[in-house]
Amino acid sequence: ENFFGSKPDFKGKKVLITLGPTQEAIDPVRYISNHSSGKMGLAIANAFRTCGAEVFLVSGPVSLPIDTGLFHLVKVKSAAEMYQASKKLHGEMDVCVFAAAVADYSPAVVAQEKIKKADSEMSILLKKNVDIAFELGKAKRKGQIHVGFALETENEELNAKGKLDKKNFDLIVLNSANEKGAGFQHDTNRVKIFHSDGRSADSGLVSKNDVAVLILEEIKKVPVWI
Ligand code: CTP
Ligand code: CA
Repeated sequence: ENFFGSKPDFKGKKVLITLGPTQEAIDPVRYISNHSSGKMGLAIANAFRTCGAEVFLVSGPVSLPIDTGLFHLVKVKSAAEMYQASKKLHGEMDVCVFAAAVADYSPAVVAQEKIKKADSEMSILLKKNVDIAFELGKAKRKGQIHVGFALETENEELNAKGKLDKKNFDLIVLNSANEKGAGFQHDTNRVKIFHSDGRSADSGLVSKNDVAVLILEEIKKVPVWI
């Protein structure tokens, strides 16, 4: 029996979920971001909560209502802030789900004043952001389970499996950007799940809540013992 016991529940387990986009400031009124809604992350949070887990959310800016009576919530904006908040919680977590769409780059310099337009082209130099899942993957200890996400438009399985290895995930959830009705801003999704031991599962096109339940089922299959 694995460390969740024979019953399909997560009672007493602590779960960290990063979710939503990040916002990377350009100047006091502008930022770089993406279309992540946080819906998938919140669906996973609800599923864990229903299964008895204590859920810690580190959320980028989302418009979804998050019930702070049900979840511990840390609100962040940038990737750097998301990393700091996640790092603080990581040590005491049993499961970490990296569902956030973290910006890979941010402006190298944040202008202190609103940038004025000029009669010329302009460019913004970007620097690489911290890879939260990679950094915390290096700190993963025995008994912890890390779950990653991947959104790919080409070589989907190969790229997803590459991230599984690189970031020390126990399983990775592949979102297909080519799938109709799936992914960003939709209520439905289709995912494939790959375990580090080679097993896999396919959700078919279903609601994000059903995807969340499938992800929990697969997490239960991860052979982690205490
Ligand atoms: N991730 C993260 N921190 C980052 C970038 C990604 O924690 N700075 C996490 C995501 O939350 C996700 C996984 O890493 O669980 C894969 O994210 P993805 O953007 O698909 O992979 P990248 O490594 O950023 O590669 P690329 O965007 O070039 O495909
Ligand atoms: Ca990325």
